[in-house]
Amino acid sequence: MVLVRGILVAFVVAVVAVATYVVFAPIPEDVDSPWMLKLISPLMTNGHYVGMFLPCGLVDWLDERFRANARASEPGVPYRDAVFDRVQVRIFAAEPAEGKTDKRPAIVFYHGGGFVSGHIDVYHPLTAMLARELNAVVVSVNYLLAPKYPFPAAIDDSTAAIVWFLKHLGDFNVDPARVAIMGDSAGGNLAAAAAQRLTFDPEYRDLPRLKLQVLIYPCLQAFDFHTPSYQQNGDYNTLIVNRRFAVTAWNKYLRGNRGDVTEAMVINNHTSAAAKSSPLVQKCLSHDLIPDEFKRPDYRAPSTDFGDDALYEEIKDVLLDPDYAPLMREDLRGLPEAYILTAEYDVLRDEGIMYAKRLEMAGVPATLKNYKKGFHGLFSFPSEVGKQGVNDFLQFAREKL
Ligand SMILES: *[C@@H]1O[C@H](CO)[C@@H](O)[C@H](O)[C@H]1NC(C)=O
Repeated sequence: MVLVRGILVAFVVAVVAVATYVVFAPIPEDVDSPWMLKLISPLMTNGHYVGMFLPCGLVDWLDERFRANARASEPGVPYRDAVFDRVQVRIFAAEPAEGKTDKRPAIVFYHGGGFVSGHIDVYHPLTAMLARELNAVVVSVNYLLAPKYPFPAAIDDSTAAIVWFLKHLGDFNVDPARVAIMGDSAGGNLAAAAAQRLTFDPEYRDLPRLKLQVLIYPCLQAFDFHTPSYQQNGDYNTLIVNRRFAVTAWNKYLRGNRGDVTEAMVINNHTSAAAKSSPLVQKCLSHDLIPDEFKRPDYRAPSTDFGDDALYEEIKDVLLDPDYAPLMREDLRGLPEAYILTAEYDVLRDEGIMYAKRLEMAGVPATLKNYKKGFHGLFSFPSEVGKQGVNDFLQFAREKL
């Protein structure tokens, strides 16, 4: 009886705590779907704590239920799993329309999840939907995850999978002139980095050229965690990703389990003063690339006269490597046309804007779509702005791909 009462009290306390949080947690006024964001965000950032209080078997069971539901979400789109080179992939291909045997476009897709989570199962509904709506072959890539497999495991897998596919397009009835690379969040990083490798590495010169790179709120740099969008959105706990969450993901991709430098990263103290004012950084990451309308009245240009030389020395080779941070590549000429989606209420907004702007300056056609009420993850979560974002992209892809 005492035990039951105890559980009941604990339950009521938990409900009240969650309800209080949902009502009072600060959130930007005009973001789409604030209630959903308030409920989902703590789970995204603290999901593993919830897991710790549930029996292991229950977590696995829930996870498998969720994945099975996801795999069954688009029964009209046939799929099969395969291995490209050494990398696990899922291939979706809607049946060609009656009497049509034309070669089809293709999208190679990299899922998000901060380099540390996510799976082709989780992204099954989105990738299958793309195959159906665009009558395209979609290849969803299950690259290796950090911290067990830190950089460059993910980008190496990502490249290996698309290289194998580009060498075997005929087997999939794909038109070599209509292949796009696409990813969201960390997957957008991998799509951008793989597109750079395919463009600039002479080893891949003879492969078909990508038609399009589609970067959905990508993370593209880990040098500056105080861009205007990080300043604007980084301290909210209600926008799915905050500064600390982003930094933690970058740290795991950078270092695996070799030590935590997040405390330095959150205050931009993982780089040196000299590096902060170096020509490369001034060129690639200048806040001048961000139009003034994106800078809130409380925006401050971050100071460049401090840093940690020893730490920077240790990590700079990766931090400046375009395979890790595609925005750090100085010369972007020759890259494939880009479609970049950003969200107003996303810490990553400005790196997407900077990349679009720099691509344009390098003569690469770039379409930038910034969603005024948007949040990180809008492409995958049901909301008005999410529907709009997906529909705008589908319309663009139908014309371009
Ligand atoms: C940055 O790191 C250096 C070296 O650890 C330290 O001396 C300095 O106080 C740090 N700066 C800030 C602003 O914390």
